[in-house]
Amino acid sequence: MSDVATRPAVLRVSNISKEYRLGRGLLGRVGGARRTTLTALDGVDLELRRGEVLALVGESGSGKSTLAKILVGSVRPTAGELEESGVVPGQRRRERARRVQMVFQDPYSSLNPRISVGSMLAELLLLHRIVPRSQVREESIRLLNRVGLQEDALDAYPSQFSGGQRQRLAIARALAVRHDVLVADEPVSALDVSVQATILELFRSLQEELGLSILFIAHNLAVVQHLSQRVAVMYLGRIVELADTDQIFSDPRHPYTRALIDSIPRMSAESLNDVFDIEGEPPSPFDVPSGCRFHPRCPIATERCRVEDPALIPLGPPHSSACLYADELAPYPGAPEKKTVEAS
Ligand SMILES: Nc1ncnc2c1ncn2[C@@H]1O[C@H](COP(=O)(O)OP(=O)(O)OP(=O)(O)O)[C@@H](O)[C@H]1O
Ligand code: SF4
Ligand SMILES: [Mg+2]
Repeated sequence: MSDVATRPAVLRVSNISKEYRLGRGLLGRVGGARRTTLTALDGVDLELRRGEVLALVGESGSGKSTLAKILVGSVRPTAGELEESGVVPGQRRRERARRVQMVFQDPYSSLNPRISVGSMLAELLLLHRIVPRSQVREESIRLLNRVGLQEDALDAYPSQFSGGQRQRLAIARALAVRHDVLVADEPVSALDVSVQATILELFRSLQEELGLSILFIAHNLAVVQHLSQRVAVMYLGRIVELADTDQIFSDPRHPYTRALIDSIPRMSAESLNDVFDIEGEPPSPFDVPSGCRFHPRCPIATERCRVEDPALIPLGPPHSSACLYADELAPYPGAPEKKTVEAS
């Protein structure tokens, strides 16, 4: 077990649910019936601990971004609690804006194309009173260097940078305000595989050097294998397995996690962002299956799985699974040759 288990939480969500009520138009029309409520998150408990990289993985639509937005305060949950350590009651929103920064998949959309990098950083440094005006240039250069960019970037505009460089800029912007919590929503998914590795390495070194707490969202387990200390696996609005990263890979205790790991070698060399190649269609969030929500795709589902809805229960710290047969699963033989993105 890693020492992460004993660290205090910097962010915690308890029993978080999020429903979207949709109009009765085409979007809500499923299987001929009109549905108006979509369950994006259903009773999620999770904590991000000080100085850890916690990976959140799962197929498209499993609720990763919704959970990330709730954590940064840009989406309100339908039910449940969000707690932050060290936040003074009444100052919650302001504190969170200062403390938790989001890094997005598409950095270009989060960078203002009409503002030079120097102006963008200066604005932030002055607004948040990080340094006096006389030190803005020096601090901006320090930030750029820290993310692997040079001083000449100060006069450039976002359109003049490559995808990987823009992601570096987005990270520099997050660091400018001296946030200690980063929520990174698929920050490497839009990048080439070779660039992905360099950005992952940047996250890893920042976490080590600055002690940042990072929630790192990825479609793909391979991306997070060398970066995260813990992994939370999401399926259709729930966390179905949570464990130290080594345990997730060596002893996965949920058939869905096993399917995710098994799918890694089948992903193409060009893109580790392909959809997972798992048997069966992902079920609709408008129509969550009865019992265990994974049962229509689970290779070992039983009658019991169709009726009993398994909670995420501890198998022994720090490993939890939401499979009724978590203790009885055959030993995991390991994935066939794994294709991974090395972060070191
Ligand atoms: N603003 C919204 N209005 C309605 N439905 C939404 C909204 N945002 C998300 N959803 C739905 O909630 C579910 C979870 O979406 P979310 O974006 O959190 O998934 P995700 O795991 O981040 O997927 P991806 O890997 O594709 O980014 C999906 O079914 C999605 O269509
Ligand atoms: S509870 Fe049943 S259906 Fe669900 S993952 Fe476990 S074996 Fe599969
Ligand atoms: Mg998403």
